[in-house]
Amino acid sequence: MTGIPDIMLNNGNTIPQFGFGVFQIEPQDTVKAVVTALQAGYRHIDTAEGYGNEKQVGEAIARSGLNRKEVFVTSKLGNASHRPDDARQAFDETLGALGTDYIDLFLIHWPLPTRYDGDYSSTWQALEGFYREGRARSIGVSNFQPHHLRRLHQECEIPPAVNQIEVHPYLTQSGVRSFCAEHQIAVEAWSPIAQGKVLDDPTIVSVARGAGKSPAQVVLRWHIERGDIIFPKSVTPARIRENIDIFDFELSGEDVEAIGALNRDERTGPDPDTFDAI
Ligand SMILES: NC(=O)c1ccc[n+]([C@@H]2O[C@H](COP(=O)([O-])OP(=O)(O)OC[C@H]3O[C@@H](n4cnc5c(N)ncnc54)[C@H](OP(=O)(O)O)[C@@H]3O)[C@@H](O)[C@H]2O)c1
Repeated sequence: MTGIPDIMLNNGNTIPQFGFGVFQIEPQDTVKAVVTALQAGYRHIDTAEGYGNEKQVGEAIARSGLNRKEVFVTSKLGNASHRPDDARQAFDETLGALGTDYIDLFLIHWPLPTRYDGDYSSTWQALEGFYREGRARSIGVSNFQPHHLRRLHQECEIPPAVNQIEVHPYLTQSGVRSFCAEHQIAVEAWSPIAQGKVLDDPTIVSVARGAGKSPAQVVLRWHIERGDIIFPKSVTPARIRENIDIFDFELSGEDVEAIGALNRDERTGPDPDTFDAI
């Protein structure tokens, strides 16, 4: 028993608040890492067409002996496939690579507002189709700013269930998080430990010492207490187990506040308003 809470999405489905991310895991290392995570109790895997390892994620789930229904799987539409016909083909390919006939959550990976004539609404309408067909149990977006979300609310029928954005102690994202809270959009925090950059921070080291936990565990717990969904990545078996071992302690309100006060609005990844790689 790991005690991982479920979060209820705006469509009534639930998602485990904690999972495993596979960005920057080489295809040849992915089966081993995902099997290690599933053995350690992870039941939620976050992949993407762009990570090049959907096939290996599917293989790991099959190899784990778990029932498909026991594992929550997310993938994301590649940036080259925003036109609706391309999105439909890409979605079929994602299901094929994962070896499944449905996905728990499918996201538009980036809004790409400077591409495709700034039209992410017709891309979203393609995802609405996957949802209506039941092949995507939930649909959402990633790296959307409030002005991108407002446009979907105006032009589309189904509101996104989640917005997956970069969040960590150096980028607390209070604006996007409040917008999402007001509109019942669950926040998923990517790069939750800022790819390791926050782990030497003196405040985090001091909170970790007080809690008898590692800096990574304290930062991951901070996200859980703020209510965000997280999926730290690691290829290191000891870290995979360390990262899930955060459901036996709590941070005080002061510690949560002290870690939040480290915000510097500092991104480790691209700015969604200008990112245009396809
Ligand atoms: N939607 C998007 O645009 C987007 C963008 C980025 C990420 N994501 C998602 O978010 C997931 C997590 O983000 P991320 O992979 O960028 O970064 P992250 O989870 O914040 O950090 C991963 C890095 O931290 C190291 N690490 C992991 N656990 C550690 C621990 N306990 N102690 C010390 N170091 C540790 C890992 O090293 P080792 O692997 O060498 O152990 C790896 O280098 C991704 O895998 C992906 O699923 C989404």
